[in-house]
Amino acid sequence: MYLVQRPRRLRQTPAVRRLVAETRLHPADLVLPMFVVEGLDEPRPITAMPGVVQHSLSSLAEAAVEAQAAGVGGLMLFGIPLIKDSIGSQATDPQGILAKGVRVLAEAVPQLPIIADLCLDEFTDHGHCGVLDARGRVDNDATLLRYQEMAIVLAEAGATMVGTSGAMDGQVAACRTALDGAGHTDTMIMAYGAKYASAFYGPFREAVDSSLQGDRRAYQQDPANAVEAIREVQLDVDEGADIVMVKPGLPYLDVLAAVAAEVTIPVASYVVSGEYSMIEAAAANGWISRKPTILEALTCVRRAGASILVTYWATEVAGWLKEN
Ligand code: PBG
Repeated sequence: MYLVQRPRRLRQTPAVRRLVAETRLHPADLVLPMFVVEGLDEPRPITAMPGVVQHSLSSLAEAAVEAQAAGVGGLMLFGIPLIKDSIGSQATDPQGILAKGVRVLAEAVPQLPIIADLCLDEFTDHGHCGVLDARGRVDNDATLLRYQEMAIVLAEAGATMVGTSGAMDGQVAACRTALDGAGHTDTMIMAYGAKYASAFYGPFREAVDSSLQGDRRAYQQDPANAVEAIREVQLDVDEGADIVMVKPGLPYLDVLAAVAAEVTIPVASYVVSGEYSMIEAAAANGWISRKPTILEALTCVRRAGASILVTYWATEVAGWLKEN
């Protein structure tokens, strides 16, 4: 046959495919989310996320050093207190578990960016991301005051960045103002610009011992909407976000691509707990091949427009990439 165009020529050997690859994964782009639990002596496995643990303060430090050695680009920290209450008091206690965890990380891996989660859901007894009003609804503006206090506590503990994941209106501006007012002009804000009310967060509830009553649909976005995500992201950019995130990852690649085309700051994607657990469960059953599936999933998120990938596989994948 005489064919002018033979696209297969570019796929014939691993070396050629490597040469023409449009997207590459690099350890530096990977951020590892970690959980630290108050009062733990030993790390505790999270049943719904095989391979992921709730850390004690000492195992947190060890895992951070391991992630750094693998070349991971950053760490994200969630703290789980022993005592939860209606306003999430522990979130703003400089001796609380999250602030302590941040200090441990800052000491263990001083060169690595540390993103402290800035949200109240791990700290409230009702499990919502903010404080409630008299009618039991999440009170946006009262919550912002709590976030402002939390931002300062986390910055003072040594967080390089705060991850504003609470999905309140005006949270980026509120945190920026609070940080600047306290002299923390260098503390960055990773804004969860597009954050959906997703069932894929299911396993995370176990990871943070959350007892959420109801759901988050009155503040997180409706999975049906994409245009709305652009509005949310633009607001975060205007309010001073340094990085914007789209969350979850794989089910929202269209949103990610649209956001990446829209903004001129770095874009992150969070491949969340349920995405992790789906792949792990299928692989454990022998239904899919684990390593190629993980690499494909992350490559596709990168291809869709994320320059930063937040993933529970960060350390392991960084190790694989280093071997190559
Ligand atoms: C809220 C928060 C959640 C996740 C990260 N930050 C839960 C939620 O919004 O309901 C989920 C992450 C994951 O599922 O891996 N602080």
